Amino acid sequence: MQNTLFNDTINGIKRERPPVWFMRQAGRVLPPYLKLREQYSFRDLMLDPILTAEVTLQPVHELGVDAAILFSDILVIPEAMGMDLKFTDKGPIFFNPLSESANQISSLIPDGSKLQHIYDAIDLIREDKPEDVSLIGFCGAPFTTFCYMVQGNSTNHSFTEAIKLIYNDRKKAIAILELIADFSIEYAVNQCKHGIDAFQLFDSHAGLIPSELYIDLILPYVKKITNAIRARKTPVIFFPKDIGYAMSHITHDIADFVSIDWQMSINDARKIIDSKVGLQGNLDPRILSVNSTESIKTELEKFLPFGKNEYKWIFNTGHGLSPDNSFENVKYVVDWIKNTNWNRA
Ligand code: CP3
Repeated sequence: MQNTLFNDTINGIKRERPPVWFMRQAGRVLPPYLKLREQYSFRDLMLDPILTAEVTLQPVHELGVDAAILFSDILVIPEAMGMDLKFTDKGPIFFNPLSESANQISSLIPDGSKLQHIYDAIDLIREDKPEDVSLIGFCGAPFTTFCYMVQGNSTNHSFTEAIKLIYNDRKKAIAILELIADFSIEYAVNQCKHGIDAFQLFDSHAGLIPSELYIDLILPYVKKITNAIRARKTPVIFFPKDIGYAMSHITHDIADFVSIDWQMSINDARKIIDSKVGLQGNLDPRILSVNSTESIKTELEKFLPFGKNEYKWIFNTGHGLSPDNSFENVKYVVDWIKNTNWNRA
């Protein structure tokens, strides 16, 4: 692993400033991405390793971020198990959600060969990326992936059918979670073998269930995946969104870093999370839709006292960028993080 700013920080080595990247930095706000999308569908971009590599590196060239995240989607895992997926204007849709019939688990057959194009893209990205930039691999955590597989779409933000299955038929829910976890391990370990610098596990919907249920039922699957990745000497960032005080259960045996959502203050997060675990986050991404950079600057300055003393910290937003954020505002944040004197002794 090279001594990039990102790699050093994630390995606990003190550097002059925090590294900066954004969840959903590829796509959404980048002019060259939006131009490519006039010609290619999202799926085209994900399936062609050359286009995937190009889009993955666009934020590096356009924004100057310190890390690139692989351009793909968490739903490639259910799709490679045979589920029929479509990305629409209203978000992703599965035409055969698992809530509809009792017998569908047996139809899920993980086919690792369907993910080969992603490993090919990682090889290309590593050849093309600047040396001082790190590459982050990822997949969805079992619970969030489960939510989409059972619900079939994201128009119901409560994922009611998915949660009901956990309460109604625990055995079936566990069978699905296990299947996702085992296939995710194969996928994540292959990403490690192809040379990613770090791995982020996205549990964007973690906050939808009571925290005790999350800790007892879900966290063991998370740990199984993160352990397999860390056994390959690849550091792991875990993003359990909206779990509030349950963040105190994300100890160093689970992840190297946790990504903090925008609901929790980064200072409170530091107080309740194991000091061995580094933090990532957590600017509210909606501030990147404002008209003037003055209010962004005010929010950024609030991170100064934290960043002066906290070396195990990666700057990011508290959730992904969205299409209504402006490119100029996002670029302003990157430049501000890079040009600020963090006064680290
Ligand atoms: O920076 C990046 O965008 C990296 C690649 C990436 C995508 N999706 C590409 C994408 C990553 C890391 C994801 C993760 C993902 N996908 C999550 C977890 C993280 C999070 O944001 O909560 C989830 C829940 C999904 C499922 C998904 N994919 C949704 C709900 C949507 C529609 C809304 C949206 O985020 O745009 C997608 C589509 C999607 N995934 C797009 C991209 C670039 C939009 C495609 C387009 O219209 O150009």
